[in-house]
Amino acid sequence: MEAKISLRDTQIVWAAKIFRLLGMLASGRRLIEGIERTGFGATMCGWILGYRRSFRTLDEAEKAVRPYAKGGHENPVRLELSRVAKPSDYAAFYYLRDRMPGIKTIFDMGGSVGNLYYCYRDYLPLDADAIWTVHDLPEYVQMGREMASEKGERNLQFTHDLQRVDGVDLLIVSGSLHYFDEPLPAFIEKLKQRPRYILINRTPLTDGPEFAVVQDAGYIRVACKLYNRSKLIDDFRRLGYGVGGEWQAAELGLTVVDRPSSSVGAYTGLWLERQ
Ligand SMILES: C[S@@+](CC[C@H](N)C(=O)[O-])C[C@H]1O[C@@H](n2cnc3c(N)ncnc32)[C@H](O)[C@@H]1O
Repeated sequence: MEAKISLRDTQIVWAAKIFRLLGMLASGRRLIEGIERTGFGATMCGWILGYRRSFRTLDEAEKAVRPYAKGGHENPVRLELSRVAKPSDYAAFYYLRDRMPGIKTIFDMGGSVGNLYYCYRDYLPLDADAIWTVHDLPEYVQMGREMASEKGERNLQFTHDLQRVDGVDLLIVSGSLHYFDEPLPAFIEKLKQRPRYILINRTPLTDGPEFAVVQDAGYIRVACKLYNRSKLIDDFRRLGYGVGGEWQAAELGLTVVDRPSSSVGAYTGLWLERQ
């Protein structure tokens, strides 16, 4: 069984490489998308690409990649605790710097072991009493707690409970919006007290209909959902948030192998403030 999965995996990886190369050429893009428009062609490409094709929903993508995921998010083998800011963090610093003195509670959704906390506090005036709460999957929460305790961190906490977003000053969703099936505005709408500020960073958005794909990082594969940019922003506006800023996280991109025209050249960051 394992040999069968491994053989199929190798076939998918090579098929995705060929599609990716073809998609870099205008004629290749036309070819792939022309084939995809025919029912038979779409079925064939779907089979050849397996978990690397695009899916309607996150759930479909998750199911397709499960045997090949190498543990997915639950496999934190490459955990890196870098204290160096990425280019897209500097845009976040621009909005955060002046507001930090008034921010006492921060909720970091998909915050891993607290890597943004360790990085951001070197760049921003984090209040001595501020509480930075990280939410992530159980493995990360466990590791993050151990790491924080070894370092004697007093401002950093970890939780499994997403409802603790309620009432915070700042919600950070960096590099993780696309892993959540419930759209963030729908989640925020249900809170009793919505965050005053929301920082979204490093997420792949689409300008067309929403869909899901699998990100292949080599050592792990994870399913993600591409939210529609205008709908996301409109939904936040409807909840009373103004968009203070939008920027490109140009250090990250996403190739959609079976729909090259839908590939994302740069991820997005957004700064939102409750009006
Ligand atoms: C790319 S990392 C982002 C880490 C950090 N926020 C940053 O910007 O560098 C994505 C994180 O989202 C977490 N994640 C994915 N799905 C999740 C879920 N359903 N619930 C909580 N965390 C999740 C992963 O475990 C991982 O730590």
